[in-house]
Amino acid sequence: MRELKNSWTTLRWIAALGATTLVFVGCRPEEPTDPVAAALNLPREPYNYSNPQVPEHFATPNVLNRDNTPFTNPVTDYGATLGRVLFYDKTFSKNRSVSCASCHRQNLGFGDTARLSRGFAGGLTGRHSMGLVNSRFYTNGNFFWDERASSLEQQVLMPFQDPVEMGMTLDSLVARAQQKAYYAPLFEQAFGTAEITTERMALALAQFVRSILAYQSRYDAGRAQVNGPAAAFPNFTAQENQGKNLFFGIAPGGGPPAPGACVGCHGSEAFTAPGPRNNGLDLASTTDLGLGQTTGNAAQNGLFKVPSLRSIGLRPPYMHDGRFKTLEEVVEHYSTGVKNHPNLSPELRTPNGTPLNPNFSPAQKAALVAFLHTLSDDALGNDPRFRNPFK
Ligand code: HEC
Ligand code: HEC
Repeated sequence: MRELKNSWTTLRWIAALGATTLVFVGCRPEEPTDPVAAALNLPREPYNYSNPQVPEHFATPNVLNRDNTPFTNPVTDYGATLGRVLFYDKTFSKNRSVSCASCHRQNLGFGDTARLSRGFAGGLTGRHSMGLVNSRFYTNGNFFWDERASSLEQQVLMPFQDPVEMGMTLDSLVARAQQKAYYAPLFEQAFGTAEITTERMALALAQFVRSILAYQSRYDAGRAQVNGPAAAFPNFTAQENQGKNLFFGIAPGGGPPAPGACVGCHGSEAFTAPGPRNNGLDLASTTDLGLGQTTGNAAQNGLFKVPSLRSIGLRPPYMHDGRFKTLEEVVEHYSTGVKNHPNLSPELRTPNGTPLNPNFSPAQKAALVAFLHTLSDDALGNDPRFRNPFK
């Protein structure tokens, strides 16, 4: 891979030197510059986004059944390339100071380490930024902590228009894109004509976000060597294997998963959930009603999206309000801190309805934290396909 890319770079240098020599020797007028090459570092052939080479254990029905890609917007290499440029372009915030990537950073699992993130004018977001890894495999296809966006195509236009985040209108988005000479060719490659519309921007951005997949962690290296998560992973320490068994609720002598197991909500190899839940952070919802805020249904107060735990160790702090600074604090919550919220989800209740609070030993807590760190995908953090393309 790398060798191929380096030889391309060398060829381009040689070509560039040749062109310069011609200009000097022949005093030829300079060729009109390619607006894409002038502004962006994009490969000659687009990167592969459409056909990710995922390991076998990831390409199973338990993940693929969760795919929220609509038939009308499959990921294409040129579509995701355009999405990548839009994602990193500060042109699309009112004072050109932030892009999507300001709050969704590649090396942080596409999340942010600030408890609340700063928008274009320095204002703070209402909730903690979300990691975008494996968004594609959130079954119901709803986005945001309160699931108010019913598809990724709908979600990706909302940050632009958010008065704190980017402060734009849909009309001004198109006008700004038209001012940049690199967009016409990128739209043409992605959609067949150079026409710039917000619908096309949404399609391209959704393709890019859906292509952000984490499947190259130490967890994956171990999982690929065994038949299932119940087996001891050969590349794990004893502590990590212990944490894995707690996470999956694997009873020492076999049998059904222990109640309260994390996998009950953070499930499948994508570690996502089929829908929103309440995990007992508070006794009652007062300031942020979560899903209930969107639907007005009190039975849905306090329900929040269950985020994928892929690359979770890379993006503290945690929860919708970023209340926990560390994974240790998160695990302590599930050990002793789960509150009896009226809508606390059944996975965290005992048979008589009280919060489970299994009271993990110090060794068990440390093991769970160690396991969560094995889900970090450092390759994704360095993957050129997802890097800032601007020169
Ligand atoms: C100023 C910071 C900021 C900027 C800029 C920003 N976001 Fe976000 N993003 C957030 C926050 C905060 C949330 C959670 C908001 C909520 O749930 O109410 C979020 C949530 C999301 C989600 C939902 C993830 C999920 O699993 O439900 C997606 C997708 C997303 N952003 C994509 C984008 C895109 C695409 C852009 C650029 C068009 C963008 N964001 C710009 C802060 C930001
Ligand atoms: C009832 C379902 C449920 C169970 C069981 C569950 N979780 Fe969660 N988890 C959630 C929900 C819902 C959230 C988001 C809550 C919020 O922010 O309001 C969450 C958030 C998290 C987060 C923070 C994610 C982020 O992006 O900030 C971590 C880490 C986490 N859970 C780990 C665990 C571990 C470890 C276990 C097992 C000990 C576990 N969870 C069991 C539902 C659950």
